[in-house]
This record gives sequence, C-alpha cells and structure tokens, in this order.
Amino acid sequence: MSAAATGTPAEPPAGPVWVVDLGPDPTGRVGGRAIVRGPHGERVLVVRTRRGVVAVAGECPHRSLPLDEARVTGRTLVCPSHRWRFDVRSGACRDRGRAARLTVYRAWRAGGHLFLAAPPPH
Ligand code: FES
Repeated sequence: MSAAATGTPAEPPAGPVWVVDLGPDPTGRVGGRAIVRGPHGERVLVVRTRRGVVAVAGECPHRSLPLDEARVTGRTLVCPSHRWRFDVRSGACRDRGRAARLTVYRAWRAGGHLFLAAPPPH
C-alpha cells in the first residue's frame, strides 16, 4: 500500500475501512501541509510532496509529541522533537534499534477531493 497517492486506490483496502472525505485538497501545492481529523477523530498530518500526498499520524510514536512541523523529504519524515526518522510509506523508524512505528494512512484524490482511509490493523 502506498501512502503517497494521486488517484483512486489501485486495490481495495482489506478489512473494515473508515474513509474521510476531506473535501478539496487542503495541502495546496508541493510543500503544503495540514492537520486534519482522521476517520476516528484523530489528528493526521497531511503533506503534499512531489510524489503525491502523504498522510501520517499527527503525533510521534516516540513520546506522542506533535508532528505539525515535521520535515518530510522524499520518503522520510523527521520528527522536530528528537529527530527520529520514519519511512512515510511503511511507518518504520529509520533509526537503528528503534522499533517505534508511525501510523500511515492511505490518501488519494478523486473528483477534486482528498480522501483518507484508516490503516489496516497490525
Ligand atoms: S517525540 Fe518524536 S522523536 Fe521524540
């Protein structure tokens, strides 16, 4: 499953899915970002990158601090608090020896709207 998407998902998500229609894409142009509410009311960071829209949990899995100002470069998100790095496609921490995993949402655009889907259970 890709976290960066620009169209309808290629395959239907497995299991129960909660989808949120965010309306017109709130991220605007490349580099744009927004904090939105996910399918369960949780905070979700949405960032537009050159590869598409990335949507991840709005709080870091390390100490639950906000990721509002996190830097996203390519496939890597860097937490502004302690600089842990996460893969925005898998959620895995890229720093050796750290098992924390960032929640990644499916995001896609259709009909001029941006949609989010809850990640499958682990
Ligand atoms: S809160 Fe993100 S790395 Fe510590």
